[in-house]
Amino acid sequence: MTEPIDLAALPKDFAWGVATSAYQIEGAVAEDGRAPSIWDTFSHTPGKVDGGHHGDTACDHYHRWREDIALMKELGVTSYRFSLAWPRILPGGDGPVNRAGLDFYSRLVDALLEAGITPNATLYHWDLPQALQDRGGWPARDTAEHFAAYAAVAAGALGDRVPLWATLNEPLCSAWIGHLEGRMAPGLTDITAAVRASYHLLLGHGLATRALRAAAPAARIGIVNNLSTVEPATGSEADLAAARRMDGHTNRWWLDPVHGRGFPADMREVYGVELPERPGDLAAIAEPLDWLGLNYYFGVRVADDPHGPYPFARQVPRPRLPRTGMDWEIDASGIETLLMRLTDDYGAHRILVTENGSAYPDVVRPDGTVHDPERVQYLREHLAACARAARRGAPLAGYYAWSLLDNFEWAYGYDKRFGLVHVDYATQKRTVKASGRHYAGIIEGHRRRAPRAA
Ligand code: FCB
Repeated sequence: MTEPIDLAALPKDFAWGVATSAYQIEGAVAEDGRAPSIWDTFSHTPGKVDGGHHGDTACDHYHRWREDIALMKELGVTSYRFSLAWPRILPGGDGPVNRAGLDFYSRLVDALLEAGITPNATLYHWDLPQALQDRGGWPARDTAEHFAAYAAVAAGALGDRVPLWATLNEPLCSAWIGHLEGRMAPGLTDITAAVRASYHLLLGHGLATRALRAAAPAARIGIVNNLSTVEPATGSEADLAAARRMDGHTNRWWLDPVHGRGFPADMREVYGVELPERPGDLAAIAEPLDWLGLNYYFGVRVADDPHGPYPFARQVPRPRLPRTGMDWEIDASGIETLLMRLTDDYGAHRILVTENGSAYPDVVRPDGTVHDPERVQYLREHLAACARAARRGAPLAGYYAWSLLDNFEWAYGYDKRFGLVHVDYATQKRTVKASGRHYAGIIEGHRRRAPRAA
């Protein structure tokens, strides 16, 4: 039995959410004027994605969004985090606006509001227009400026109805996994490109924040980072230093500049790449935010590895921890630790857990149900840890389960199922899993305990 979730620790207007992203669910990649993104290119490059899977159809959400909103309503969620596809709105990355692309999101937002669900829109969940990649992608400064222009267009069209905005989803993955490890689009393995990309992603974040505020003054704007707890494998000086480097690579590189602390000096030395700095950039990157988004999946234990990949630290398993179907270690205490760190070390005044969830090889049973007790347990443990952090003073304002639907899990394709709702890709039939019902019960329990203000 897991510990009870201290629902009374969560504020009355706590956002109970589910999250998705455009390329992972929409499909319809060539419809209504959408142009390819780097993920279309990457997923259609042989050998890059398990099973040769791609997002051409995905969950067909582009056509089934009404049904998907009805599912959210059935679960009782109060907020929906989704992303806008830049290549639907500005197919060339800059230049002419594609009205049909904006209209899709406009209809979606109207229907969410009608269902009583607060939209939380992310501008960039990894689907850079391929046209901009062809002109240099994130390693090029222009991309940051185009991103701000795109933010202005999106906010101009939707800012009257979307109260919550995020600029970037997990820039760590775009920069480090996309440009250094090569396991995600655009698939580069180049430290110079990766560091330059990281810089321009954060610059783009700052410039986009300003553009959003100018176009939609009431917008509440945040950035979404995936953070991890980091512990040394042993007490040796070498492993302690490796843990500091891994913490720099994973956490501080992304948090410090946004909080006005600049890029961590120790990590600049580790990377040995000159930053493409210009006067005024750091101020833009540190533009004040209304909230911080935390995506949490796992923590890491690391050992020194002088000849290994950046940041010269090797992950070592923590043997006693159970693992999900991604082979990710389950450690719910990590989310509490990170919430407290954002609160105590970074002075966060509002935090949303923008993603948290687990993949398992779920199947629909002959009786039409999906039995996923591991996911129920995962959800409960992590929510209990969130509530503990809230009790300790973390200004936690919401939790978004990853994900509403099983979907295209990037380089892993469709076999990794993260949904609270099962998707049969052959028929597009949706089936609410036991975990989805359980989540609905938790939301209902909180609503009863803390009636929403009228
Ligand atoms: C995060 C991504 C999200 C999803 C989950 C499992 O890194 O933001 O799109 O793939 O992992």
